[in-house]
Amino acid sequence: MSLDRIRLASLHDKVCSAEQAATFVKDGMLVGISGFTGAGYPKALPTAIAEQAKAAHARGEKFAIRMVTGASTAPECDGVLAEANAIAFRNPFQSDPTLRNNINAGNTAYQDMHLSHVEQQIRQGFYGDMEVAIIEATGITEDGKIIPSMGIGHCNEVLKAAKKVIIEVNAKQNPLLETMHDVYFDIGTPPNRQPIPLVQPSDRIGTPYLECDLDKIVAIVFTDSFDRNSKFADPDENSKRIAAQIIDFLGHEVKAGRLPKNLLPLQSGVGNVANAVLAGLLDAPFEDLTGYTEVLQDGMLDLIIAGKMKSASATALSFSPDALQRFNDNIEFLRDKIVLRPMEITNNPELIRRLGIIGMNAMIEADIYGNVNSTHVMGTKMMNGIGGSGDFTRNAFFSFFVTPSTAKGGAISSIVPMVSHHDHTEHDVMFVVTEQGMADLRGKAPRERAKLIIENCSHPDYRDMLRDYYARAEKSGGGLQTPHLLLEALSWHQRFVETGDMRIK
Ligand code: COA
Repeated sequence: MSLDRIRLASLHDKVCSAEQAATFVKDGMLVGISGFTGAGYPKALPTAIAEQAKAAHARGEKFAIRMVTGASTAPECDGVLAEANAIAFRNPFQSDPTLRNNINAGNTAYQDMHLSHVEQQIRQGFYGDMEVAIIEATGITEDGKIIPSMGIGHCNEVLKAAKKVIIEVNAKQNPLLETMHDVYFDIGTPPNRQPIPLVQPSDRIGTPYLECDLDKIVAIVFTDSFDRNSKFADPDENSKRIAAQIIDFLGHEVKAGRLPKNLLPLQSGVGNVANAVLAGLLDAPFEDLTGYTEVLQDGMLDLIIAGKMKSASATALSFSPDALQRFNDNIEFLRDKIVLRPMEITNNPELIRRLGIIGMNAMIEADIYGNVNSTHVMGTKMMNGIGGSGDFTRNAFFSFFVTPSTAKGGAISSIVPMVSHHDHTEHDVMFVVTEQGMADLRGKAPRERAKLIIENCSHPDYRDMLRDYYARAEKSGGGLQTPHLLLEALSWHQRFVETGDMRIK
């Protein structure tokens, strides 16, 4: 334990064990917890709270909290709490297997929502009173300001809203993270909201620290472990083909004078495929790229280290163990090139529209008209959540959705007649890209889009089925703007549920 990280000596007497700090958290409380896509989440308190929950359950008592994070956390946070059945309500995004099972079993109520809305809804009190905030920090300054760790997410708002604050000071978070953050406090409330004065992705418009009324800090706990993120899958042939098509298209737009030579700021969503697209840019003929994204993953880090990207803005740094090592090894070089902001700024629709972002997000399935499902397998089973994909897709200059054309070893087509759950509508989605090809949906009516998506993006194993569906839907004449055979469209997914395979046998 190193008290050096708490530079305001008057806070030293708040230091205690995680078990002591956890006693401030009681059954039914609304708790704001830091953490964004596996970055900057508390490492010790969740286990201590989970132990309290287990002990309460063993006594036959209830114990479950209502938990609001920035986004997904990790096994030591969502995982341990879900394992102990200690989460009654959770928002706005998760990706933990145990928590996912609890959600899909109906044991945890899950609000899957646009991340740009979270802070506003906390301010407006939609979730009720926030009793406790648990925030991971790199340290605390001489004047009691909080140095965030690998992400900011909603911390700014949670520190204001909570009645009591517990800080975890993590000695493993690099002290040179100090000053990489830019916390903007002045977003305001309509009708008096002012424009956010951010013009370039790299602009700094706030202060490097989070602020909190010091009287609210009830406990400070020391931890000493890295964020636990798993390794990305190495880009496979499908991901490489998807990346190559996007890069080719962007080059074409530059040649046509519709994009500047260094493109527009890039956003890349979570997941292996989205990360692979950025990896593909390493060898592409673009220089001086910029990033304006929600989560900065391995692919974007490597673009910056390689000198291909000059700056990037994000709310969290979510790296595989190898990339974390590269980040720490190069932090002196990186600290003025990366800006970490509250998620209300990174995901702000007005900024995304004004900066003209190139958005690239992965999906579960797209339908033949360009509607996209990012969240629900077979329309009912939650995978992760919409995260920031809606904030970016609706407002980006270019919105790409990527996926391999099939899932589960070819047993499921990712191109379907009608999506089983709608996250992004045909009105927002501009490009659908699979390893088979790309459909540019701009300037196309639904019937034109259907032909493009089937011919360019679907897997050959499913193409005839989709052609046949579309031809019969078109012939049925029951409304031709967007031809459908409703019962058949729905039974497409049912067939997989019943047989485990949608291919024609
Ligand atoms: N039907 C059934 N399952 C499917 C499927 C489909 N059409 N498409 C994908 N899956 C399953 C895969 O089989 C895999 O399951 P497994 O973990 O059991 O192997 C899982 O979904 C992940 O698929 P993968 O191909 O590895 O893609 P990914 O890692 O790129 O993730 C999403 C894809 C859609 C799940 C992920 O990008 C996501 O959660 N997106 C929504 C949030 C988002 O976009 N955030 C970014 C905003 S900044």
